[in-house]
Amino acid sequence: MTSVVPARTSAELIGAEEPVLAHNYHPLPVVVSRAEGAWVEDVEGRRYLDMLAGYSALNFGHRHPALVEAAHRQLDRLTLTSRAFHNDRLAEFAERLAALTGLDMVLPMNTGAEAVESGVKVARKWAYDVKGVPADRATIVVAADNFHGRTTTIVSFSTDEVARAGFGPFTPGFRVVPYNDLAALEEAVDETTAAVLIEPIQGEAGVIVPDDGYLAGVRELTRRKGCLFVADEIQSGLGRTGRTLAVEHESVVPDVVLLGKALGGGIVPVSAVVARREVLQVLHPGEHGSTFGGNPLAAAVGTAVVELLETGEFQRRATELGEVLREGLESLEGKGVVGFRSRGLWAGVDVDPAIGTGREVSERLMREGILVKDTHGSTIRLAPPLTITAEELQGALRTLEKVLTGAA
Ligand SMILES: Cc1ncc(COP(=O)(O)O)c(C=O)c1O
Repeated sequence: MTSVVPARTSAELIGAEEPVLAHNYHPLPVVVSRAEGAWVEDVEGRRYLDMLAGYSALNFGHRHPALVEAAHRQLDRLTLTSRAFHNDRLAEFAERLAALTGLDMVLPMNTGAEAVESGVKVARKWAYDVKGVPADRATIVVAADNFHGRTTTIVSFSTDEVARAGFGPFTPGFRVVPYNDLAALEEAVDETTAAVLIEPIQGEAGVIVPDDGYLAGVRELTRRKGCLFVADEIQSGLGRTGRTLAVEHESVVPDVVLLGKALGGGIVPVSAVVARREVLQVLHPGEHGSTFGGNPLAAAVGTAVVELLETGEFQRRATELGEVLREGLESLEGKGVVGFRSRGLWAGVDVDPAIGTGREVSERLMREGILVKDTHGSTIRLAPPLTITAEELQGALRTLEKVLTGAA
């Protein structure tokens, strides 16, 4: 039966959300109804190039055929068992994900925040069971301006007041040091420290790339001091920076890697804690879990994602297209761009505040058919799907130039 409710316009749909949806987001006024590859279409049929890619959840583009096919195939067979029983998809997913990251064991979860929460719990348990930290004394050292998610424990170690205010009391046991500062880390890590938890590149902070040697320094320091290096690669990982993991730029293997976003191929939420055996084997039945973590649909899509990454094609594209992005942004310096940071197909672009806030620039770009997201003041973030073509990327950069120079 066809619906008797007339189709609603973008404006009507935005208005209809207002009284019934929590106001915890401030989306751009575009209502997307379909998408393919790097392109999305709104309900009026206007097309936009997606230069955000779901904060890297859509690294392989919208509805990548191999991922959609894997999902369809699995939907027709088995979708959920819970971990009360085994399912026939989980072993392969875990084997291949561990091999892809150079680690040993996998704890499957769903969202990024859950992977971070799980990583925190695993690091604490390791500190008590293996390192011998006295009960309830474990500390975790984190970086200022981090973004690891939104749960109560995670916002407990955020330095963003908007994310924290009104949500206390907070979970104790975290020490915050400046990012990209090995001396501060050296001072903060002591015999109670379970782990150093950082983003190899700080995404939400504006794509902050640390100095060369920082990640290798964190690896050396954590090894020397006897604590874990936990790398949150939820946004930086799975091809975005031109490597499978961003830590590979410094040939570093952390003890624990947190993955999410693109692991679900833009189809289902899939996240994971991937770690050395000595670390993840601290968990025993009943100590941690998730009804949906490791479900067969997630495992099937996650395996298809790993398969795409095993080819190396997406890492290569991110490197090559990253050059196009970097050169394009360099040419915009002085033409509305006051600075930028990039690695692979990922950039934080500081726009001259005289031109407008990041939000205003994002709205102007939207009107020109380009979707981006601002972060902090006058910074916009560019993270298109790794399937974007060089021509599409160059087109987006030309539109950015027009918007910044007032020609649009
Ligand atoms: C580095 C990092 N960690 C964790 C998260 C949280 O992921 P989720 O929104 O899936 O909970 C994000 C989300 O932006 C992130 O960028």
